[in-house]
Amino acid sequence: MGDSFVFRLPREIFFGTNQGNDIGKILVNIGKRAIIITGRKSVKESGILDKITQSLDRNGLIYSIFDQVEPEPSLDTVNRGLKLSIDFNCEMVISLGGGSVLDCGKVIAGLIGNGKTIQPFFEGVPIVKAGVPWIALPTTAGTGSEMTSNSVLTDVDTGIKRSVRSPFLISRLVIIDPNFTLSMSPYLTAVSGIDALIQAIEAYTSPRSNPISNALVLEAIELLWKYLPKVVQDGANLLNREYVAKGSMLSAMGFANSSSGPAHGFSHLIGPKFSISHGETCAVLMPQVIRFNREVFSKKYLHIVNKIGIKETGKKDPAEEFALAFEDFLDQIHLRKRFKEFNVPLDKLISVLNINNIGKNITENPRPFQSSEMAELLKSSW
Ligand SMILES: [Fe+2]
Repeated sequence: MGDSFVFRLPREIFFGTNQGNDIGKILVNIGKRAIIITGRKSVKESGILDKITQSLDRNGLIYSIFDQVEPEPSLDTVNRGLKLSIDFNCEMVISLGGGSVLDCGKVIAGLIGNGKTIQPFFEGVPIVKAGVPWIALPTTAGTGSEMTSNSVLTDVDTGIKRSVRSPFLISRLVIIDPNFTLSMSPYLTAVSGIDALIQAIEAYTSPRSNPISNALVLEAIELLWKYLPKVVQDGANLLNREYVAKGSMLSAMGFANSSSGPAHGFSHLIGPKFSISHGETCAVLMPQVIRFNREVFSKKYLHIVNKIGIKETGKKDPAEEFALAFEDFLDQIHLRKRFKEFNVPLDKLISVLNINNIGKNITENPRPFQSSEMAELLKSSW
C-alpha cells in the first residue's frame, strides 16, 4: 500500500534570535485588537511581557492581558479568557508562555465565533469554522503545542483531562525566538527538551509517520541529542539555545503530523497520578519502550543510532545500544531514570493500568501489548 497522509502546519513560522524583537510590526497586518494570554509570573519577571507590549504600543495595536493561566489549564480558566476576549472584540489571540498557555490561548482563539463556553466542545461537539487568528509565542522549547491542532484541558470537577481537537485550532503565526527561552532553569530546559526528543523518537516510530514527518524528526533528534546537554549545562549560551529551539520546532512539526507512542501513552496514566512532570515521566519510560519494540523497529533504531553517532559496540542490537545511550543521556541532563527515585511504590505504579484507560498510542503500537507485558514494562521502569 502506498503512502497516504495529511500534513498541516501553521501558515507562517518566524524562527531565529531576535525575531520577537518587534512583533507588533508583524501583527499589525493581522489585526488591531489583541488579547495576550499568559501565566501569572515568569514572563513578567523575565521582562518578555514588557518587551512584547512595548512593541504592540509602538505599532498602534490595542490589547488586553489575561494572565491567569495555571499549569494544566481548567475549563473555567478557558471560559474566563474567552469571555474577556469576546467582550474586548479581539481580532487575534496571542499566547505568550509554555505549553499550558499555548493550549489555553489556542482554544480561546478557536472558540470565538463558535461558542460562548468550552464545555460542549470538551464533550465532543466539533469546532466547524475558524475562530480568530491565534499567534503562538513559545517561551519554552519542548511541548510543541505551537504546531499542533489540539488543546489539552482539565475538568477540575470530574478530574477528566482531555484534548479538544480541530484543524481550525492550528496557529496563524508562530514566532520562535530563542531569546524567549533564556530564562528557563536547567531543570525546565531538561524536562521540556527531553519531551521534544521523545516526541521526535515516537513520531518516527509511529504507524502514522510519513516521509515529511520522518525527515523533520530525524533532524530534530540529531540537534536535541547534541545540544540539549550543553544547554542544560550552560543556559546562557544563546547559540546552543537556538539549536535546541530549532530541534524542538522540527520535532513539533513532525510530531503534530504523526503521533506519539507508548512512552506518552503510559506517561498520561502515571505522571498526573504521582505528580511527576510529563517530560520526566516519558523519560523514565522511553528506554523500556525502546527495548519492548526492539524487533519491530530494529531498522529505525539503527537509523537513529547512526544519526546521533552512538559508537556501536557490535555486541548488542541497535535497540539495546540506543536504550543504554538514552539512559546515559538522562544522566547528562540530570534527570532520574527509575520511578522508585520518585518514591512511587511499585504496586501503586502497576495499579494505574486499567483496561478502560489505555490510549491509542499504546493500543496502536506495532508490537501489541498483552496486559502482563504492560505490567512488566512498568516494573522494569521502576
Ligand atoms: Fe510530550
